[in-house]
Amino acid sequence: MHLITAKAQLSPNVTRLDVEAPRIAKIRQPGQFVIVRKAEGCERIPLTIADADPEKGTITLVIQAVGKSTRELVALETGDTIRDISGPLGHPTEMISSGRAVCVGGGVGTAVVHPMAQGLFRNGAEVISVIGGRSKEWVIFEDELSRLGKVVVCTDDGSYGRKGFVTDATKEILDAGGVDIVYAVGPVPMMRAVANLTRPYGIKTIVSLNPVMVDGTGMCGGCRVDVGGSTLFACVDGPEFDGHLVDFDLLADRLGTYRDFEEKANQCCSDGECRIGRG
Ligand code: NAD
Ligand code: FES
Repeated sequence: MHLITAKAQLSPNVTRLDVEAPRIAKIRQPGQFVIVRKAEGCERIPLTIADADPEKGTITLVIQAVGKSTRELVALETGDTIRDISGPLGHPTEMISSGRAVCVGGGVGTAVVHPMAQGLFRNGAEVISVIGGRSKEWVIFEDELSRLGKVVVCTDDGSYGRKGFVTDATKEILDAGGVDIVYAVGPVPMMRAVANLTRPYGIKTIVSLNPVMVDGTGMCGGCRVDVGGSTLFACVDGPEFDGHLVDFDLLADRLGTYRDFEEKANQCCSDGECRIGRG
């Protein structure tokens, strides 16, 4: 059992939970994730470790409430417990220790960019973060990233920071020169757009992929992705890959596979009638 020690609402559908997991807090590295199961019989949800406090023995999970299981998770309060947290899983982020890194975060993906930026900062690299949200209330982790370097905030509607997508601001930074590496995490169209943007500049671009995961051990094949023509598993080979080699069309297609099922599960939640055969 893992005690929830703090809870905060970061944006209209994004919640932060600080959860006791002392061993994971001590050994986790940027880029790694955990698989969380709220209670016996519940769905297993992969979540990036957005931050950790080894002294307190807690890790920070950032959850976007999009389906039945994530909504159940964010309904938990401080003092409640989570049944299982497995991890840390996945390979740590490939870091540079000098030079300039641009970390691009779209929406809830900004929480995934945060530990990458922390690691780069600790390593001695210069960090520029470009973060975006639909409007002001959707921008997250601005204060935390500001402690690590310059932050450029973008909103789609111009209600805060610059008006436009994160790719617009990133292009200006690339044009100014001196960028050694780019990290991008967010919706698939955003990561694809960043990878397409950096390709002509020849700048290495790392993306963190979020396919459907089940076991997190490379056994079930649920998180299959195509990278450079090879079939890889995001849980054990990733979750971070060279963005210039990722087949984003396949990723988007596979992410849509369970949309019908998820919609039915959502309806079950609202009217109590089971449509997914779980009774
Ligand atoms: P969103 O749709 O609100 O977009 C956030 C920002 O991304 C926008 O403000 C914009 O700056 C940028 N963006 C979006 N589309 C773009 C495009 N076509 N070109 C350039 N920039 C673009 O994001 P959200 O609702 O917070 O994110 C939800 C999505 O993120 C879900 O699909 C979820 O699966 C995915 N996600 C990915 C990861 C990961 O590890 N890659 C982690 C969590 C969530
Ligand atoms: Fe099963 Fe990756 S989650 S193979």
